[in-house]
Amino acid sequence: MANIVVFGSQWGDEGKGKIVDMLAEKSEAIVRFQGGNNAGHTLVVDGEQCILHLIPSGILHPGKKCLIGNGVVLDPVVFCEELDKLDAKGIDVSADRMMISKKTHVIMPYHKVIDAAREAAKSDSAKIGTTGRGIGPCYEDKMHRCGIRAADFADPALLKEKIKTALEEKNVLFKHLYGVEPIDADTVYDEVRSSVERLIPYLGDVSSAIQQANGAVLFEGAQGTHLDIDHGTYPFVTSSNTVTPNAASGTGCSPRDLDRIIAIVKAYTTRVGGGPFATELEDADGKYMQEKGHEFGATTGRKRRCGWLDLVVLKESVRLNGPTELAITKLDVMSGLKELKLCVAYEYKGEQIFYPPQEQNGMAYVTPVYESMPGWDEDITGVRSWDELPENAVKYLRRIEEITGVKVGIVSVGPDRVQTF
Ligand code: GDP
Ligand code: IMO
Ligand code: MG
Repeated sequence: MANIVVFGSQWGDEGKGKIVDMLAEKSEAIVRFQGGNNAGHTLVVDGEQCILHLIPSGILHPGKKCLIGNGVVLDPVVFCEELDKLDAKGIDVSADRMMISKKTHVIMPYHKVIDAAREAAKSDSAKIGTTGRGIGPCYEDKMHRCGIRAADFADPALLKEKIKTALEEKNVLFKHLYGVEPIDADTVYDEVRSSVERLIPYLGDVSSAIQQANGAVLFEGAQGTHLDIDHGTYPFVTSSNTVTPNAASGTGCSPRDLDRIIAIVKAYTTRVGGGPFATELEDADGKYMQEKGHEFGATTGRKRRCGWLDLVVLKESVRLNGPTELAITKLDVMSGLKELKLCVAYEYKGEQIFYPPQEQNGMAYVTPVYESMPGWDEDITGVRSWDELPENAVKYLRRIEEITGVKVGIVSVGPDRVQTF
């Protein structure tokens, strides 16, 4: 059985959760490898919606193992809330089927305070528009080598000591730079204690669990390639590597364990939060996508910015992630648009370029070069095969294949698990 990596090829919210849920049926284990509860992955089964922030999108399939890799940053309080919500729906969330890597770094209350304080201190144009979940500050502590890891849950004395040490430095910042009240280490410990104790049975060696799996392992990416800390539209990015090589390092397996790589591609482009977006539309077509696609963030509820499909962005995603196939989602949202535009290049500093510029905020200064295609009117939400698609929809998909050099393997025409072929 082939292991599969699913990743976002744009700026997140491409529909990764839906496709992971669908592919989970044939997998033995589903593992998250980066990000945290900045993610919001939506699953719809028999009309019922379920949004997951931390727990892998395979959880609705009984018996499948759900693993949290070392590359994730985990908020223990949020994780427990998610466990409770699923448990209330009668879903098994016991430690028999779920594991958190002992190496996973932990988001503490003070990380969220820093996240908010930093954003508040920025001018409007400089704001990243983070999700406010403490993601960046937690990854900073990891790199700074003062982070708290899930393994520390089992050692209360060490945990207390690490919280105290972390706050010695942070309280200086709170007091003298951010104008925030200093935080007391014992208060922090008390705030997380019950969640921390509850999670102890879930701690394990995710690397070994993957190695010992009898069937296929499904690696679930969060965010998208252009939010990657190295390759995204820096500094308007998240704080982890969202690209597929991190599926290996973020879980503890070898790159040779990654067989199929599926790029999730929304049929148009969206972005939530700040940062440049070359094909963004502020006209009636953009409004149509936003409304018809219900483009509101699954984590923060913010309106998502919408625009035409950007193949410059997509080609960069192909180069960085090596997809073996594309999964095109939300094709149904395009029905009813008279003319479809595909961005095939950028004008930048008097030249045509075919990959995003690498200068700071370079994408803010490009002009998209478009190819135009005729749209289709038919409602395609009931379509279940290529043969049933309107001719112009097939042409649209074929053109994406031609320009990216990657075949479309999956087409999604609605939010429900079954609206896929
Ligand atoms: P993720 O973060 O990549 O998992 O994506 P989100 O869940 O944040 O956002 C995708 C949204 O689109 C969710 O509301 C999904 O239910 C919905 N969705 C997924 N695929 C389709 C599709 O093919 N058509 C439509 N109309 N909605 C879809
Ligand atoms: P999923 O997995 C879309 C964006 C935020 C902000 C930037 C940095 O659902 O696709 P952070 O809180 O990570 O420091 O915010 O990244 N962002 C996402 N946008 N989908 C996501 O996840 C995102 N996770 C973070 O809006 O612009
Ligand atoms: Mg999302």
